Amino acid sequence: MFNNLPKLPSLLSLSILLNSLAVSGAESKLVLTCGTGDKGKDADGREWVPDTNYFISSSSTPSTASFQDPSLPSEIPYMTARIFTAEATYTLKATASKRYWIRLHFYPATYGTLDSNDAYFDVMANGVQLLKNFSASETARALTQAYIVKEYSLALASTGVINMTFTPSKEHQGSYAFVNGIELIAIPDLFTSAQTVGFKDQPVDVKSASLQTMYRLNVGGQFIAPTNDSVLRTWYDDTPYLYGANAGIATMKNTSEKIDYDESFVDIAPLDVYSTARSMGFDGNLNKNYNLTWQFQVDANFTYILRLHFCDYLAERVNQRVFNIYINNQTAQTGADVIGWATLSLVPVYKDYAIYVSDRAGDDVLTLALHPTVDAGQPPEFYDAVLNGLEIFKMSGPMGSLAGPNPQPSEMLLKAEADAAADANKQANGFSKASSNIDVIGGAAGGAAAFGVMAAICISVYMRKRRARGVDSYTTSWLPISSGFSHTTGSKSHTSANSHLSSEAQGLSRRFSLIEIKQATKNFDESNVIGIGGFGKVYKGVIDKTTKVAIKRSNPQSEQGVNEFQTEVEMLSKLRHKHLVSLIGYCEEDNEMCLVYDYMARGTMREHIYKGNNPQLSWKQRLEICIGAARGLHYLHTGARYTIIHRDVKTTNILIDENWVAKVSDFGLSKTGPNMDKDHVSTVVKGSFGYLDPEYFRRQQLTEKSDVYSFGVVLFEALCARPALNPNLPKEQVSLADWAQHCHRKGTLEAIIDPNIKGKINPECLKKFADTAQKCLLDSGIERPSMGDVLWNLEFALQLQESADGSTRSTRERTSDFDEISLEDNKNIRLHISNLSLGSEHELSQELEDRNSPDIFSQIANPKGR
Ligand SMILES: *[C@@H]1O[C@H](CO)[C@@H](O)[C@H](O)[C@H]1NC(C)=O
Ligand SMILES: *[C@@H]1O[C@H](CO)[C@@H](O)[C@H](O)[C@H]1NC(C)=O
Ligand SMILES: *[C@@H]1O[C@H](CO)[C@@H](O)[C@H](O)[C@H]1NC(C)=O
Ligand SMILES: *[C@@H]1O[C@H](CO)[C@@H](O)[C@H](O)[C@H]1NC(C)=O
Ligand SMILES: *[C@@H]1O[C@H](CO)[C@@H](O)[C@H](O)[C@H]1NC(C)=O
Ligand SMILES: *[C@@H]1O[C@H](CO)[C@@H](O)[C@H](O)[C@H]1NC(C)=O
Ligand SMILES: *[C@@H]1O[C@H](CO)[C@@H](O)[C@H](O)[C@H]1NC(C)=O
Repeated sequence: MFNNLPKLPSLLSLSILLNSLAVSGAESKLVLTCGTGDKGKDADGREWVPDTNYFISSSSTPSTASFQDPSLPSEIPYMTARIFTAEATYTLKATASKRYWIRLHFYPATYGTLDSNDAYFDVMANGVQLLKNFSASETARALTQAYIVKEYSLALASTGVINMTFTPSKEHQGSYAFVNGIELIAIPDLFTSAQTVGFKDQPVDVKSASLQTMYRLNVGGQFIAPTNDSVLRTWYDDTPYLYGANAGIATMKNTSEKIDYDESFVDIAPLDVYSTARSMGFDGNLNKNYNLTWQFQVDANFTYILRLHFCDYLAERVNQRVFNIYINNQTAQTGADVIGWATLSLVPVYKDYAIYVSDRAGDDVLTLALHPTVDAGQPPEFYDAVLNGLEIFKMSGPMGSLAGPNPQPSEMLLKAEADAAADANKQANGFSKASSNIDVIGGAAGGAAAFGVMAAICISVYMRKRRARGVDSYTTSWLPISSGFSHTTGSKSHTSANSHLSSEAQGLSRRFSLIEIKQATKNFDESNVIGIGGFGKVYKGVIDKTTKVAIKRSNPQSEQGVNEFQTEVEMLSKLRHKHLVSLIGYCEEDNEMCLVYDYMARGTMREHIYKGNNPQLSWKQRLEICIGAARGLHYLHTGARYTIIHRDVKTTNILIDENWVAKVSDFGLSKTGPNMDKDHVSTVVKGSFGYLDPEYFRRQQLTEKSDVYSFGVVLFEALCARPALNPNLPKEQVSLADWAQHCHRKGTLEAIIDPNIKGKINPECLKKFADTAQKCLLDSGIERPSMGDVLWNLEFALQLQESADGSTRSTRERTSDFDEISLEDNKNIRLHISNLSLGSEHELSQELEDRNSPDIFSQIANPKGR
């Protein structure tokens, strides 16, 4: 297929030629976007310049990706690539004897006629093999990421030039190489030597080693964007890597205290890293009995450097908080005393340890564990341990190679993909099957890319296997976002030993006995089942002789449900609003957990728009349902004592009661959000594909504007009567959010409006509605309207519609519109209260730790629950 491309002239002559015209003067920062002649800015506002002056070879072709994955952080540098069909070299001028971060960005996509699955290649830089037989598409698939970032740091080059050679693999037919972005960032000497674990007095020389960054975590803290790091590093949240039942607690320094952070530390790590930490908890006796543990997937046969960042802002004296550090079950350090090292409280310090990971079975992981030192002559004052930041680097082997094998997708990922495909097929064939049967996999969905998220997936799977808990099924999968399917992404988290509800929650909701529940559901008779979700089955029932209710029963085998149960009760018992589904009570007895809700006679919003055998709703009825749901969300965001972010807004979570009042349901994923100093919550990405805010996905920062985005998708769903994701459509139409925006921009929105209502919408009303929906979907959260603005605009749109209809009927008359459809018409209505992904264990208390403000949140959840 490449025969028609120009043959490569003598590489050497060309390279000499170009070398002389290339850059004059070394750069301390070179940020190249490949395969384009234009410079541009990325989402962070960083400028990328074209690579045209830096590569040497005529066998390269600039190319543009045919599809923009929604999880890409920005078009630049990912949408253009330079393609090499033969060996080719970039010559980058560098300062002699200086260390650089080299970052390579890859977005595996279709470039022209080239299939991303055909790209297998090697990358060499000054004699160091960075990548061998690398397949960006295989890697992206296994890690469920849309794009891959690799970061290296080469040993000091004495020549002052970095030659980076891309070579397509000779073994794979039709292979080619490509790259989307290259960064070269000068850094000071960050490395010296590291202590070898298990061998005293055998330091490893890191100063002259070539390194690859594997992980970089702001432990107990949140995502730090490159723009907030002096040498443009990205720091990720550590929670996906926590291993074991006890995850300790995240802490933050007292804001009125100041860390002794001077110039010399600026390039080591940003101040934020030292301002947050994870410690074991306040109960010393508990701490004595567990290890605070993180686990990471790595390639075997390499030496790894672990850099641990510390800053103790709680202890003040030596021997207050002393602990041991274990790496892969070996003792790396006994009696670690941060104050002892740093001499004072609030002084940052870091320690480097080296360990070789061999290729024995089950050995391709790195485990870091902290445990209080209990056997010292003079025991410490507190049995506790602390860690603020962690970086893991791979050291080049004896042959100067840093390359590992392409990661393989886990069996669970493969199974989930197969199930989802089967599910999509069934749905396409007209079966409407509850899509809740896919096995839980958990783990961070990886659009956030880069080494930080890498292997979170493998690790989570690993953890789940290890725990061998009866992991319940819920609507989850780890499909890459681009491949569609509306499933909820889940994430790992921690198990709590026991669950109890706060006394306030208990006081606010009614406690049912198991006998009452059994009476209400005829002993959980199958004929009463109205839905199946991750939590278990949902039954309809009657309590107090006449009150119809829906009862969610947790699967007795599932430990996972416990925390979702807790979250829902704690949240819902305090929230009362006309447009929120109300919780009547709960039952917690004999290992049975049940939640009792108001019965939502008319099922989900989706069923009334395009799924199910229901009569089609008129435009005005749809508008009214949207307005109801918007009111519910607006209340969540602003009306409650704390901002609450729903996190899983979608048409199956908007339920409709017999009076056609729309109610928002499913708070299992909800987070109490910002209403204090910070304006976002950092978290592992959750929610449902098709509705996920791309900004949240990229940055793992959650704000109420993520709900606004999802609601924008709901609005277009109401207008177009199609699912948020439909994998059976041509690629550009799969995602409703993308397609509707595209049509709106092009002025062709008319064409995709539900034929049942087309022509019956007042044009002004349509314009108002579509503009509002489109603004909800804006890329940047701060540009999106608030839920209050959305509500106002929708109400205005309704007025436009009504005045066009010539009707000025009252609200009550309006609702009678609905009564034309009688309940008996739709026998198929099912309650989807259960449809919520019962995503995670222990979310709420985790949130408490994240926010580190137990006093503020204690009314919402009981921190003892951990
Ligand atoms: C290259 O990678 C592919 C897939 O990861 C593998 O099947 C193939 O055997 C590898 N080739 C070599 C030479 O390692
Ligand atoms: C880089 O390539 C140029 C041209 O091929 C060569 O002269 C130079 O020695 C190379 N430098 C290194 C460090 O490999
Ligand atoms: C990044 O730094 C800027 C300026 O210091 C600050 O305003 C912003 O909040 C920081 N962002 C994050 C995510 O820390
Ligand atoms: C923070 O420090 C100030 C001054 O040292 C002190 O008054 C305050 O109580 C501290 N707050 C917390 C939560 O420890
Ligand atoms: C690690 O090295 C051993 C011995 O050299 C080799 O047999 C094995 O295949 C290597 N493993 C990997 C993953 O490269
Ligand atoms: C560490 O010990 C645990 C339990 O003793 C074991 O399951 C695990 O495989 C060990 N890990 C390593 C890297 O040796
Ligand atoms: C903590 O880890 C070390 C090293 O793997 C192990 O020897 C020790 O038994 C562990 N302690 C607990 C309480 O699990």
